[in-house]
Amino acid sequence: MTTLIAFESSADETSVALVKDGRTVLSNAVATQINSHQRFGGIVPEVASRHHLEWITKTLDIALEEANVPIDEIDGVAVTYGPGLVGSLLVGLMGAKTFAMAHNLPLIPVNHLAGHIAAANFNEPIVYPALALMVSGGHTELVLMRQANDFHILGETFDDAAGESYDKVGRLLDLPYPAGKAIDELAQQGQVTIDFPQAMAKEAGYDFSFSGLKSAVINQVHNAEQRGETIDRADLAASFQAAVIKALIDRTRRALTDFPVRSLILAGGVAANSGLRQALTDLMVDFPETKFIPVPKQYTGDNAAMIGAAGYWNFQDHIFAGLDLNTNPGLDF
Ligand code: KG4
Ligand code: ZN
Repeated sequence: MTTLIAFESSADETSVALVKDGRTVLSNAVATQINSHQRFGGIVPEVASRHHLEWITKTLDIALEEANVPIDEIDGVAVTYGPGLVGSLLVGLMGAKTFAMAHNLPLIPVNHLAGHIAAANFNEPIVYPALALMVSGGHTELVLMRQANDFHILGETFDDAAGESYDKVGRLLDLPYPAGKAIDELAQQGQVTIDFPQAMAKEAGYDFSFSGLKSAVINQVHNAEQRGETIDRADLAASFQAAVIKALIDRTRRALTDFPVRSLILAGGVAANSGLRQALTDLMVDFPETKFIPVPKQYTGDNAAMIGAAGYWNFQDHIFAGLDLNTNPGLDF
């Protein structure tokens, strides 16, 4: 049995968790600072770092108390070292290093993106080979995993991430940042009335592009304004969401066809999207040999439990770091 304590502070959530054997969440304390950034329409790095500093010890206390595990039963300290904002990452990293040093525990470096994917294990154990559709505010990737802790990017976005396009369209609709959830809810009340073109639809491969879609939505709104028409926000949200999902499903279908896998993982903040979850469930009817393993909704956003899950892979592979571990803000697979 392996129990890890995990630290996550890459963006605007400060989180500490305790996770057993990469699958059982003993505690997962998350402090979100969204409210402090909303009026700026995005994350302000300096503000984020200060919040992390204020919350890192509080979330640590809550996580330890809730898990109720004696510290001498903890086997290692997992920490996100990238990708993310450097000033934010540093706070979690220093917290983790301090904890590791004080309790003489090994430090385990964790890639935030691997964390998002590993959270699928909180649903059911991932079976390999696996394909992961990783959709967050900063990344949109199709990742092939031939075994645990082995990542091969098949395709990625050339420009905006899926979540980023939600947030940009949200700004246009005067929705508070981040707008993914609000657009998702609005879309459910509307009809698909506009057929937005899918970027790169005819291109081979598994890559994505979402900036053209965002521009098409902006044009649609501006043209309507110029004509003095009021646009139906719910219909616009439904049409935009349908276009995002169409692009994601199209590339995922192609990858599943070319790489027969035993599980399909849906991970990242956008994985909370109800339309996307349903569309993938429908898609999987055509791939009966592949298990669909979406990350449970409560673990799709940033949290430290997912870092504990990915940290367990590294622990098993004896991937440890010294106390000189630095952040890597641009880290990918
Ligand atoms: O993974 P995450 O919490 O942070 C990053 O690592 O980026 O993802 C945040 C992103 C935001 O862009 C947010 O708008 C989006 O996930 N998001 C959603 C939904 N919930 C969050 N997008 C679409 N539908 C949702 N229900
Ligand atoms: Zn994330």
